[in-house]
Amino acid sequence: MINQKNVQLGTVRSCIRELFEYGKKRKAEMGEENVFDFSIGNPNVPTPPEVNAAIKEIVDTYNPVFLHGYTSAQGDFETRKVLADYTNARFGTKLNADCFYITCGAAASLTIVLNALLNEGDEVITFAPFFPEYKVFTEHAGGKFIPVKCEEDTFHIDFSRLESAITAHTKGVIINSPNNPSGVVYTEDEIIKLAKLLEKYSKKYGNPIYLIADEPYRELVYDKDTKVPYVMSYYKHSLVCYSYSKSLSLPGERIGYVGVNNEMPDFSEVYAAVCGAGRALGFVCAPNLFQQLIKKVYNLTSDISIYKRNRDKLYSALTEYGFKVVKPDGAFYMFVKSPEKSAVDFCERAKKYELLIVPGDDFGGEGYVRISYCVAPEMLERSLPAFKKLAESYR
Ligand SMILES: Cc1ncc(COP(=O)(O)O)c(C=O)c1O
Repeated sequence: MINQKNVQLGTVRSCIRELFEYGKKRKAEMGEENVFDFSIGNPNVPTPPEVNAAIKEIVDTYNPVFLHGYTSAQGDFETRKVLADYTNARFGTKLNADCFYITCGAAASLTIVLNALLNEGDEVITFAPFFPEYKVFTEHAGGKFIPVKCEEDTFHIDFSRLESAITAHTKGVIINSPNNPSGVVYTEDEIIKLAKLLEKYSKKYGNPIYLIADEPYRELVYDKDTKVPYVMSYYKHSLVCYSYSKSLSLPGERIGYVGVNNEMPDFSEVYAAVCGAGRALGFVCAPNLFQQLIKKVYNLTSDISIYKRNRDKLYSALTEYGFKVVKPDGAFYMFVKSPEKSAVDFCERAKKYELLIVPGDDFGGEGYVRISYCVAPEMLERSLPAFKKLAESYR
């Protein structure tokens, strides 16, 4: 018999995908402009013009045998060196090329890291609400997935809940800041407190607890006072899963990396395990065209002012209509409290107004809905009367 867990994963679509497909059907029936699709986190801001120009230049001038050939399994040395130099200049780390493993995006980075670290039955904690694939990736790597609820109404880390969830089997904690789906960015104090707690329990149980920072939204923050602390500056046993999917609007190109902190005492073993997991999973040698591209555009970001304007407009409209919303600091999601107990029922009602929003249940955020505001500003503007009617339908 073939593996039934995989059959199940391949058969049951996520509710986001389900809604996305429904949206396509509905747009065909009603006309594109009459359906307000906030279901998916696909960047609507184009990649910066420098990115396409660099791709053209690379394709036109590089030796095609090199360009379309294999690189080292962990990625082109020069690209990894550029990543190390850039990270050191930006965050004061002392990384080198051999701290990096280039991957096909954050999803691959996370799968590699979890497979590298976990033994059967090890526990991985994350904070709810969370990106639903964390559960899939953790369980497939043989781990036990332990969601810990964030503080109600702020979505910041609830340290007493976290402390009660840590056991002798805790191998890792995944954080995602800026967060999908809440938009929250963890403060420096919060990261310091987290690092201290993980140090305390690593010592108590005699095994390191690894901190895994999932960072596809690192560059997407909207207020100048909002800083995203770099975990390697605060905690030795840390790894970063990065991706250019959102920062450069390149989700279809599948490019990102794993960074391993070389300050951790067991660095050599952990980096070897990352390379081993990449090998075992078949994630070797990420697409070379995009590895070469990263060398040229590593410090660019798409025009995020569009997301900021969308955030501000949507936040002020929804709060005016009476919805309860925590203002997001970053990413391009808003997590809104459902006016009725069941977020699934709320989303069904929203569909009557052609609003496609996702129940928080799969994110471990029951009673909330996720709105992705990486959408055309005109569509967002047109959707506001529908949100208003939806709010009024609860009075
Ligand atoms: C929190 C989070 N982590 C990881 C990913 C996967 O990103 P990538 O496209 O780089 O695989 C996503 C994608 O939406 C995400 O939201």
